[in-house]
Amino acid sequence: MLDFLQEEGIDPRVIQGIGEFRRRYAPSGDALSRPRYYYYGKKVWEQAAQALLAGENLLLAGAKATGKNVLAENLAAAFGRPVCNISLHINADATTMLGTDTFRDGEVTFRPGPVTEAAEGGGFCVLDEINMARNEALAVLHSVLDFRRSIRIPGYRQVGIHGAARFIATMNYGYAGTRELNEALSSRFMILTMPEIAGEDLSRMLQKEFPSLRPEYVRQFTALFLDIRDKCRSGELTEKVLDLRGLLGAVRMMAGGLAPIDALNMGITNKTPDTYEQSLVQDIISSRISGKTDRDKLFGDRG
Ligand SMILES: Nc1ncnc2c1ncn2[C@@H]1O[C@H](COP(=O)(O)OP(=O)(O)OP(=O)(O)O)[C@@H](O)[C@H]1O
Ligand SMILES: [Mg+2]
Repeated sequence: MLDFLQEEGIDPRVIQGIGEFRRRYAPSGDALSRPRYYYYGKKVWEQAAQALLAGENLLLAGAKATGKNVLAENLAAAFGRPVCNISLHINADATTMLGTDTFRDGEVTFRPGPVTEAAEGGGFCVLDEINMARNEALAVLHSVLDFRRSIRIPGYRQVGIHGAARFIATMNYGYAGTRELNEALSSRFMILTMPEIAGEDLSRMLQKEFPSLRPEYVRQFTALFLDIRDKCRSGELTEKVLDLRGLLGAVRMMAGGLAPIDALNMGITNKTPDTYEQSLVQDIISSRISGKTDRDKLFGDRG
């Protein structure tokens, strides 16, 4: 992981800071695994890591598929901490986050929730889609997130927060059902606005993710995504079809042998229900990838 940061040209002071953090809080076994995907974007990496090194909590705000969860997992891996993930929703309450009493072997025992687990074990707690939860429910986090760094759990005990524990929240302004965070909560985070991926970062990601994908098609898929993004900016297409997750899934299906056009329709075109918009997207796709293109043309291995 630290090799990756070096390759990415991350500020040596940041890498050194992470190294010191890891010496201070020796990484626990399961935290040493490599993340499934790497996050590409030097500036975001540096800003996020600096915030955590300074002991701050981090709120990653941005559109869908801008890599918020990927970055959170990368940070945990770089800092050598286990991840406790919690997906928040409208009915989330204090017990969802902190834990609750359960029956085990005929006895009532406290089963810690993700927030308590991270707090006690020095994990990185990912509060996913934090703005899906009600502000009243999130109020229990105030003392966890500010200088008090402790939490009183009714019927359990006072839990102090481990020096290595950090809280990383994600939020998406666009999705239906989301709301704005109130000031009391947003004041307890450093907020990072997640940028759209840069063209060259996307190319590097495609190349790393699909090592046998021919450079010509790394270029074409990157350009395809940027074309769609431009058309969204100019209002010709909606954000529904701007889906990096969908593009990556489509390329993965192509690697498995699915015809590229079919894969791109499933991953991108069909994200809009509007048939007129679908036809616009299909035109952009066919200007980049011919209908005759098959797996062997795309990939330089045998499959
Ligand atoms: N800068 C980036 N570097 C690497 N991968 C990225 C980047 N931006 C997006 N991705 C890719 O986009 C996909 C979605 O990433 P992720 O799930 O982290 O997005 P998200 O921001 O959490 O989206 P959502 O708001 O929909 O939950 C992943 O496959 C990820 O690899
Ligand atoms: Mg996410």
